[in-house]
Amino acid sequence: MEPSLLPIEILEARQDFPKALEACKDLDALMRLKGAFVGREGSHAARMMEILKAAPKEQKRELGGAINTLKNGWEEAIKARQAELEDARKRAAALGKAWDPDLPPPMPPQGSLHPLNRIIDRLVDVFRPLGYHVEEGPEIETEAHNFDGLNIPADHPARSSADTFYLEKYPELLLRTHTSPMEVRTLLRVAPQIEKKGGIRFLAPGRVYRKDEIDPTHSPMFHQVEGMLVGHGIGMHHLKGTLAYAMKALFGPDADVRFRPSYFPFVEPGCEVDVRCPLCGGSGCRVCKQSGWVELLGAGLTHPNVLAYAGIDPNVWSGFAFGMGVERIAMMVSETPDLRFFFENDQRFLKTMGGLN
Ligand code: PHE
Repeated sequence: MEPSLLPIEILEARQDFPKALEACKDLDALMRLKGAFVGREGSHAARMMEILKAAPKEQKRELGGAINTLKNGWEEAIKARQAELEDARKRAAALGKAWDPDLPPPMPPQGSLHPLNRIIDRLVDVFRPLGYHVEEGPEIETEAHNFDGLNIPADHPARSSADTFYLEKYPELLLRTHTSPMEVRTLLRVAPQIEKKGGIRFLAPGRVYRKDEIDPTHSPMFHQVEGMLVGHGIGMHHLKGTLAYAMKALFGPDADVRFRPSYFPFVEPGCEVDVRCPLCGGSGCRVCKQSGWVELLGAGLTHPNVLAYAGIDPNVWSGFAFGMGVERIAMMVSETPDLRFFFENDQRFLKTMGGLN
């Protein structure tokens, strides 16, 4: 085709087209370019049709061919570019949904310790600097460890099958009803070297079982932490000092303890230990039932029969022991009114254990 057949603006447009097309970085720009080059009105193509109409008869064929070639070329190039841009937009959208490089990487949900284990860990942390280590033992126990070695007589009501889970096939075995059998086990094990070791100190946390109906404050399975110290000339003053120290470490410097006489066959004298309610400071609240005190432990000086059972001379050695309920502490510090929450593993509860963090 003779370039001279086309007016100068069209020749310029033909020259500019490839660059203009390349410059279209999105579909909007491409649509504007399409309108300018091949649109029905006011476009270069429309202008070329006017020129064709006005051209002398003998030029029409040649001019028409040239115009068609040019227009078709533009249309095809625009179509191809449109497909390209649409494709790119789809890919960007898909990528945008899946990945934003500015965001922190996705983290798998993180687990954490159960609130009861956190209480146990804290107790262990409190007693470790005092020289206590951790003893662990079986939840299936013998009557000897759970009762006999603890000076609990054969006719004691706690030994009845109404209170204690006995194993059907092995009637001499039972689910331990407290962590105190760890006193017997540890005393028996250490007895031969007690002279060399100069005494015994340990904590024994773990599960215990009793035939209790489930209600807001009872469960057939719960947790205790046993503590024991054996040495020379151990008296109530050692027990009181140790527990007062531990409760302050656990609940803060204002924590106070009070000792009430009580009875457990494996201690003499025996007592129950209350802590001044850490929530109201003693003025009375729902948690302490307006009394200002919360019962947390059983304790006492180790009965001579317990030492003697393990082969330790009670005339030479003496000690104290205590046992505390872990759920009690957890319920109190978290102000949770229902013990069952601790065993249902409902994440909504476990995640909001504010007081226990
Ligand atoms: N074993 C007792 C209980 O379960 C608690 C206790 C432990 C009491 C040690 C005195 C000494 O209630």
